[in-house]
Amino acid sequence: MKDDDTRQPETSSGVSRRDFMKISAVTAAVPLVMGTNVVQAAGEEVPIQGPGKVPVTLNVNGKKLGAELEPRVTLLDALRGPFDITGAKRVCDRGACGACTVLMDGKPVYACSVLAIDAQGAKITTIEALTEDGKLSPVMAAFVAHDAQQCGFCTPGFVVATTSFLQKHPKPTAEDVRRGLSGNYCRCGTYNGIRAVALAQAGGEQS
Ligand code: FES
Ligand code: FES
Repeated sequence: MKDDDTRQPETSSGVSRRDFMKISAVTAAVPLVMGTNVVQAAGEEVPIQGPGKVPVTLNVNGKKLGAELEPRVTLLDALRGPFDITGAKRVCDRGACGACTVLMDGKPVYACSVLAIDAQGAKITTIEALTEDGKLSPVMAAFVAHDAQQCGFCTPGFVVATTSFLQKHPKPTAEDVRRGLSGNYCRCGTYNGIRAVALAQAGGEQS
C-alpha cells in the first residue's frame, strides 16, 4: 500500500517542505535583500513577515478565526492559545508523535510542525469537528468499544488519523492499518485496540 500520509503539507504558497529547505539553503548562502520588506528567493520576491506580530486568519472547523501572531507561531500553538481549541495535544512538539494531528485541506498534518501563517487559506479540521450532531462519530465510539485508550493523551490525534485513513482506505488489511497509522505513537501501548478499531470500522479482519 502506498503510504500517502506524508505529514509534510505544502505551504499556502504551494511550497513543499523540501522546496522550503532548498530555498532556505539558497537564501542562507546568498541573502539578497530587495528592500526593507522584501527578499529575493529562488528568483521570486518574497515579502518579509515579522518578527513582530502580524494579522493571521485561519479557517478552523468552518469558522474564520483571526489573531495577531508572530510568524514563528505554530498552528498548534495558535489553536491551543488564542483560539482555545484544545483537542489537538502537544506532546513532543517536534513532529514525532502525532498527538497534535489535525486535517489541513483533508490531509493529516502535525499541527506542531506547520506555521499558523502558512496555514492561512487552508481548511483546518480538528477533532472537535469530527463529532456528528454533538454525538461521538463511529470512529470515536469504536475507540470506546474497543478500549483503545488508557491515559487518552494520544487519542485525539489517533482518532483524527484513523478517520482520515479510513476515508482514503475503506478496506484496509491489518498491515495497511499498521503502516497507515504509524505516524502516531501511544506511550500507553494501546496499539492493538486502535488497530482493532480501524479494522472493525472497515468491516475487515481483527488483529
Ligand atoms: S506534538 Fe506534534 S507530532 Fe508530537
Ligand atoms: S493512551 Fe496514553 S499515550 Fe496513548
